[in-house]
Amino acid sequence: MKDIYILGIESSCDETSVAVVKNGREVLSNVISSQIDIHKLYGGVVPEIASRNHVLRIDEVLSEALTKAGKTMANIDAIAVTYGAGLLGALIVGVNFAKALSYKYKKPLIAVNHIEGHIAANYIAHKDLQPPFACLIVSGGHTALCEMTSYTTRKLIGTTTDDAIGEAFDKVARECGLEYPGGPNVDRLAKEGQKNINFITKPHEKLKDYNFSYSGLKTAVINYLHNKHQRGEQVNIADVCRSFEEEAVDQVVQKSIAACKKYGLKTLVLAGGVSANSFLREKATAEGKQWGIDVKFPPIVLCTDNAAMIASAGYFCFVENKNLASNLTLAPSATVRL
Ligand code: KG4
Ligand code: ZN
Repeated sequence: MKDIYILGIESSCDETSVAVVKNGREVLSNVISSQIDIHKLYGGVVPEIASRNHVLRIDEVLSEALTKAGKTMANIDAIAVTYGAGLLGALIVGVNFAKALSYKYKKPLIAVNHIEGHIAANYIAHKDLQPPFACLIVSGGHTALCEMTSYTTRKLIGTTTDDAIGEAFDKVARECGLEYPGGPNVDRLAKEGQKNINFITKPHEKLKDYNFSYSGLKTAVINYLHNKHQRGEQVNIADVCRSFEEEAVDQVVQKSIAACKKYGLKTLVLAGGVSANSFLREKATAEGKQWGIDVKFPPIVLCTDNAAMIASAGYFCFVENKNLASNLTLAPSATVRL
């Protein structure tokens, strides 16, 4: 069978990335230009600045990705681009760039849901992984549990009733005075702390389904910090991070394992930025082992935003003739449902 080369383009937040992926699983290049150092100054991503920096970097990132892969546009079979969800201005840059390339080089254009990209990162990391499997999506914008019924279809098992887990990590980090990006800093500091603060009495356990809730936990941490500050008492930030992290992780792990048991799924895959969290990776692996469930997750570089995962998701759509988009009319969308 002929090899298929997909050019992936990602610009939904603060990473400008272009990748070349062969047959959906083999990364030939995955160039990521991160804007973290710029946004750090403001304590979070500033959408306008993100858009401008995508414009400044994207052309160079494309050239680098093609050179590293040893390919030219002539070798590319299709272009896959994140069209949502994400920051609208940031998405516009990647989508318009992809449309222009598709028009100029007469290549099919595939519209990729960013979250499907996060899931596909696992097809790159685990060459034998194939549906069906359970997938826990834990990102800045999503917390969801689904069953992947094929490479391009899934059944939703549960979702968050309020905030996303990554949002909670970022908010807690900010309240703790930690630098952007918050999640990795909470992860790092939690290793030095103890779980000695009881932030919540597990209200999610009262949710009978597989849905999640993070706003109560987030608020409990914020209230704890405010109370301490008002009383002028010292706060051990490492303990706060550890106590929050264990609670946050416990919720997704318990529910995912319970769902795997209920639906007879033997593999649980973690996807999204928060799947980089070291405690989540450890805890899910240990719990899975206990119940004969194989827990998989991507290497850190593929957990956070990158274009290789978009190219991989695009490949599976391309071979099934799905999500083909017009290079004249494709429009980005800030919110896309899973
Ligand atoms: O998946 P992602 O790109 O967001 C969306 O696509 O919506 O991931 C970004 C999120 C941020 O909330 C970030 O703080 C979190 O992933 N994150 C982490 C870690 N690394 C990234 N959260 C906890 N521990 C980490 N090591
Ligand atoms: Zn993402």
